[in-house]
Amino acid sequence: MAQRETWATRTGFILAAVGSAVGLGNIWRFPFVTGEGGGAAFLLVYLLFVALIGFPAILAEFVVGRRTDRNPVGALKAYGGGAWKYVGGIFIATGFIILSYYSVIGGWFIRYAIEGFRGDYASHIAAYEGDPEIMFGALSTGLDAFILHTVFMAITVGIVALGIRQGIELAVKVMVPAIILLLVGLAIWAFTLPESGGGYEYYLSPDFSVIAANWAELLPAAAGQAFFTLSLGMGVMITYASYLGEDRNLTRDGITIIGFDTGIAFLTGLVVFPIMWAGALTEPGSGGPGEIFVAMTQAFADVSGGQFLGLIFFATVAIAAISSAISLLEVVTSYAIDEIGIERWKAAIGMGGVIYLLGVPVTYDLIFLDLLDYFADAILLVFGALMLTILVGWIAPQAAVDELEKGIGNLGTLGQVWIWALRIPIVIVLIISLYLGVVEYVDFLTGDFAGWLDENL
Ligand code: PFF
Repeated sequence: MAQRETWATRTGFILAAVGSAVGLGNIWRFPFVTGEGGGAAFLLVYLLFVALIGFPAILAEFVVGRRTDRNPVGALKAYGGGAWKYVGGIFIATGFIILSYYSVIGGWFIRYAIEGFRGDYASHIAAYEGDPEIMFGALSTGLDAFILHTVFMAITVGIVALGIRQGIELAVKVMVPAIILLLVGLAIWAFTLPESGGGYEYYLSPDFSVIAANWAELLPAAAGQAFFTLSLGMGVMITYASYLGEDRNLTRDGITIIGFDTGIAFLTGLVVFPIMWAGALTEPGSGGPGEIFVAMTQAFADVSGGQFLGLIFFATVAIAAISSAISLLEVVTSYAIDEIGIERWKAAIGMGGVIYLLGVPVTYDLIFLDLLDYFADAILLVFGALMLTILVGWIAPQAAVDELEKGIGNLGTLGQVWIWALRIPIVIVLIISLYLGVVEYVDFLTGDFAGWLDENL
């Protein structure tokens, strides 16, 4: 069998993991969830969750990946024994499903960036009865969406097909610094816009009363966001760590990755809210799929320099989405390479092709986005994360501590603190989130989705 690939440099691994973590979750979702959750007060809760839950959980994926040097199915089988391979299978399925619609959303961002090339956003909106919502409706489904879903997936497949060093590592070395630079530039520009001040106030002044009133929804939302944004629960970090050598200090890498992800999410808030306020939009809505497109396009139509600002903004998000999408496809591809034994480029094209087909219905009707997203994100992902936590925390903790100590040295009681964090608090949070996710999904199936079927069949 061919030698298993590895990262060329430590930076390559870190950038790839940051590239995976920074994506639509940070840019499309985070600012709105934060806005709704009382601004800075939510931010504090979220930071707490990232540190107390995200950090132990990302280390758990790292140790399993590096110890076994396998894709998630092979890794869980090697780490936990035979039946655990089915949990690995759930990871693969989750990646499969999430990537299918992630690609469609990524395509929307490419589409909106193209609009910026072709003229200013005000005249684009004017072409859709002057309503950015109608514009989003027209662009988010149908032929446009289909073509850009195709483009997005083709780019993703192309990068993964080229391999770890020549494909993913090279791509993220360009993409991640570009994302950071562009966002910093946008944030500075946003700062100079008139009337942007209200945006900072909304984002940064803590309103604890919102949390006190809605904690039952907001706490699971903060936990879910912490997992999603760190790409946990579907084996991305297992897979990426499987290409590592033994000498890395995984805690240090984990802290670096989490630091970048959180910093970039925070930075995005400094772009989105001031621009919205400058465009006289002062009510961020529910963060649904169209929210950021509708709100930001209107803002870009209204502020001076909006055409260029918008072009850069949408393109930046598209880049961030691609660097996340490649990690999802890598999970599935590494599975096909290791377990089915096919060559990398065939695996990437074959798996990418099937995932692409699964995403096509989303370009027909957005009800399929909800159908896939609620299921993968709120149920499968949480279930996968829960099982991995149980495996590392309860079933085989010693191997995990041994593995973590490689490259660090004796951890003493810190190792035990880590294991106990996994065993009790994280398991509890995940069980509650899973329960809420199932309730929400049943609600959706019997409500919105049943209604849609009635109307359309
Ligand atoms: N972390 C990515 C984001 O915040 O957009 C999304 C993501 C990528 C989730 C990869 C899960 C994953 F495996």
